Amino acid sequence: MQKLFESKCDVLHDLEGPVREMISRHLSKRELWYPSDFLPADQRVCDDKQISELRSRAQGISDNARIALTLNVLTEEGLPHFHRLIAHALGEDTAWREWNGLWTAEEDRHGNVLRDYIRDARLLNFSILEKLQFDYIRSGFHPAWSGDPYKIFVYTSAQEKATFISHLNTGKLIAGQEPLLYSITQKIAQDESRHYAFYLNVFKEILDRDPNTALESAADVMPSIDMPGISMANFNEYADVVRRSGIYGPRDYQKIVEQLIGSWNIALLTQLNEIGRKAQDKIMSIPSRLQKVSDFIESRIKAKSFTFDVIFGRILEMA
Ligand SMILES: [Fe+2]
Ligand SMILES: [Fe+2]
Repeated sequence: MQKLFESKCDVLHDLEGPVREMISRHLSKRELWYPSDFLPADQRVCDDKQISELRSRAQGISDNARIALTLNVLTEEGLPHFHRLIAHALGEDTAWREWNGLWTAEEDRHGNVLRDYIRDARLLNFSILEKLQFDYIRSGFHPAWSGDPYKIFVYTSAQEKATFISHLNTGKLIAGQEPLLYSITQKIAQDESRHYAFYLNVFKEILDRDPNTALESAADVMPSIDMPGISMANFNEYADVVRRSGIYGPRDYQKIVEQLIGSWNIALLTQLNEIGRKAQDKIMSIPSRLQKVSDFIESRIKAKSFTFDVIFGRILEMA
């Protein structure tokens, strides 16, 4: 007999034991690293040769990879908003606070190491990057799902997977020119993959306890997710370059949704009430709709030139 829960808060409370175990599992698998493992910055380290070699390797990094790195670093630097959204929805003095602290500390290194690299390598117009970061953090991120813990876990599952793909594929683009930056991107991608596993498992536990309401929340979030940088100036242009570079686009999002549906066994859930069944049907129809969207976008693609201040207004021709 399934235990009945009165509210989402009750479910979160009931999950504290499993979450503590998940945190321990996460800690036992992850390897602790710091940005200075890749880019030493100790007072005693003053290796001009190392820096000049780094800068000369970085010159080979293509402009589309620089645009992808700009979007990746800004996405990571939106962390204060994500910390706030999670803290607000999950509350204090619980295992959730422990997770939010750990997750935030791990994420904080992503923005730091990318920013350190960009600065040390002189990769971008840094003052433009700083302005973008300032404006983005100031405008914030205010998704429709804020305050709903179930929606947060659906969103973070999808978002962690999206950032995993984005860092992984940006790395592939520069692997030939810059092995150091390649290893940074892969290290970040590994973190994102472990975060994905955590959120995926949390939502699995929620589905076990409260399937109808959980499906209703998932059906609201899964049709499309706003990327964190959506409020950034020229966000669509950045996203277009990233898509045209084969790093991340609507086809990837479709695959993410299919994986979530499979991992959460959504098609096989039974004994749902009407709300749950409706949500289940809606979720099952999302992949084919996303496929139509991707087909439509691809059928209209034409070569396009872009210019971005962050790469000093150079013209970027993309197929
Ligand atoms: Fe990250
Ligand atoms: Fe992450």
